[in-house]
Amino acid sequence: MIRLGVNIDHIATIRNARGEDHPDPYKAAIYAMKCGADSITIHLREDRRHIKDFDLKKISSNKKIPLNLEMAADLKILKIALKNKPNFICLVPEKRNEITTEGGLNLNNNNIKIKKIINVLNNNKIRTSLFINPSTKDVRLSKDLNADCIEIHTGRISNLIKKNKFYKSELRKIIKVVRYANNLGIEVHAGHGMDYKTAKILSKIKGIKEFNIGHFIIGESVFFGLKKTIKVFKSICR
Ligand code: PXP
Repeated sequence: MIRLGVNIDHIATIRNARGEDHPDPYKAAIYAMKCGADSITIHLREDRRHIKDFDLKKISSNKKIPLNLEMAADLKILKIALKNKPNFICLVPEKRNEITTEGGLNLNNNNIKIKKIINVLNNNKIRTSLFINPSTKDVRLSKDLNADCIEIHTGRISNLIKKNKFYKSELRKIIKVVRYANNLGIEVHAGHGMDYKTAKILSKIKGIKEFNIGHFIIGESVFFGLKKTIKVFKSICR
C-alpha cells in the first residue's frame, strides 16, 4: 500500500483569490484526512503565494494531522519550520518566478547548506526528504547528505503520459532510481503533476512508499468532490 499525501496548497490559492477566509486550508486538511489521506502536504513558499504562516501554525498545532512541510533550503524558513514542528520536511528548490516547482534540487551547488539543514532536522527528529530528479547520482548524494527519504520529481513522466508520448524510457529511469535508493536504505516518494493515469503506472513500481499529489486532486474535486477523488487515488495505491 502506497501512502497518499494530499497537497492542499491550492485550497489556499482559491482562498487568497478573494483575500478572505474561505475555503480554509485547515478545514481542508481535516476533511482530507477524514476522506482517507495518509498525510497533508503544504509548501510555505518564500513569496507566500498560497500557504501563509498562520496556515502552517494552525495545521501543525493539530497533532492528529501528519504534516509534511515542503520548503526551500533557506535558513529563515527553517527557523519558522522548527517553531511549528511538522512531522516531515521535504526540501525543494524554489524560484520566485516559477509557476510550480520545476525540477529537483541541485545537490551539487547547495550541498553544504542542505547538509547543515538536514543535520538540524535530524536533531529535531523530523523526517527529511529531498525532492530530486530521477538520477542515481542525486540518490547517492542524498545518501551522503543523510536524508531519510527522496521524493522523485515526476513532472517529466507525467507530462509524457498526459500527452500520450513515449514514456517508457523515463519510467525505466525511475525504476532504476527506486531500486538504487532502496538498496541504499533510502525511502522513496514520488510527486508532481500526477493524475490517475500516472499514479496507476507508478504504483506498479515496487519500492515507492508515498505519493504526494496536489493540483489534480483539488482540480478533480471541483467535479467529483474531495472524498471521491481521494477514494480513487487510495484504490490505485492499494
Ligand atoms: N511534491 C513536491 C515536492 C512538490 O513541490 C509538489 C508541488 O507543490 C507536489 C509534490 C505536488 O505536485 P502537484 O500539485 O503537481 O500534484
